[in-house]
Amino acid sequence: MTKKSKKFDDDPNTTGHSWDGIEEFDNPMPRWWLWSLYACIIWAIAYTIAYPAWPMINSATAGVLGWSSRGEVTAQIAEVEEGNASINTQLVEVALTSIADNAELDTYAVSAGGAVFRTWCAQCHGSGAAGAKGYPNLLDDDWLWGGDIESIYNTISHGIRNEVDEDARYSEMPAFGRDEILEPAQVDEVVNYVMSLSGTPEDASKVAAGAEVFADNCAACHGEDGGGDREQGAPNLTDAIWLYGGDYASLTDTVTYSRFGVMPPWTDRLSEAQIRAVAIYVHQLGGGE
Ligand code: HEC
Ligand code: HEC
Repeated sequence: MTKKSKKFDDDPNTTGHSWDGIEEFDNPMPRWWLWSLYACIIWAIAYTIAYPAWPMINSATAGVLGWSSRGEVTAQIAEVEEGNASINTQLVEVALTSIADNAELDTYAVSAGGAVFRTWCAQCHGSGAAGAKGYPNLLDDDWLWGGDIESIYNTISHGIRNEVDEDARYSEMPAFGRDEILEPAQVDEVVNYVMSLSGTPEDASKVAAGAEVFADNCAACHGEDGGGDREQGAPNLTDAIWLYGGDYASLTDTVTYSRFGVMPPWTDRLSEAQIRAVAIYVHQLGGGE
């Protein structure tokens, strides 16, 4: 018996392969299929010429149309900015204090300011603006440097204790312990006095002596009664709201080494409209004056 089965004239072509008498047809591809394939190949080549495609060492071929996803985003941003241009101009031209009187402008400022806050401020002040140790809570009405709209705007524009902006808010509490301005015993006394201003001291017998140390060394900045001084960003020490902690150990640290909270200025990174918007946003959070 031959390997190949008998062939008839009208049998279709086969590839010549045969397995156990089962043969494989060798029909041509359907024309419509072939043309689709050629069309796809031509389209793919044209596409890789027109758009960024082939990977190179550092980037990819750019494509003759010059399209890029980055460019598309830039165009979209430009479009949104163009749409907001007139309201941003209005925001910059109106007096800070009268923005709140214009409902439409105020609503826009609060929502645009919220977006700025989440992008640029939340990493330090917290996404809900509640702050953290060393980073003030912006929701309460306890202000280091002032809580009216103008003060907030100035704080944001120039920052605090940074070396970048000449107009940054500046003040420096001496390191009473480290620089031996006070004896350790005096530090202990004044810490007990400070604790007594808003709660219970560690050792009540030292409060009276601490009051004297305070009057001589601290009152010039924190006020006779410890109520603080916004001109110098000296915190109120009587309200039980602590930037760096109100327990004995934290207070001893503060008085011994002092603190030096730094905030960057924003005039170089944000537009005037963005700074105004975020100032309005912070002002309406709850503690604005
Ligand atoms: C790198 C951290 C950091 C970033 C980012 C930052 N801040 Fe601050 N901010 C601080 C610190 C620290 C203080 C407190 C400084 C001090 O002790 O006086 C502060 C203080 C403030 C105050 C003054 C609060 C008061 O009680 O007077 C305001 C208002 C404020 N920040 C708003 C903002 C806004 C709005 C942004 C975003 C545009 C921002 N901050 C971004 C660190 C930061
Ligand atoms: C030259 C002004 C100045 C003097 C004098 C001064 N302080 Fe301060 N004090 C400050 C400033 C400014 C801050 C805020 C530092 C910061 O935010 O980084 C501060 C912060 C503090 C804090 C932290 C408050 C908190 O909320 O965590 C305590 C406590 C404090 N001072 C106690 C004292 C005591 C006690 C003395 C006297 C022995 C004293 N200060 C003297 C300016 C002063």
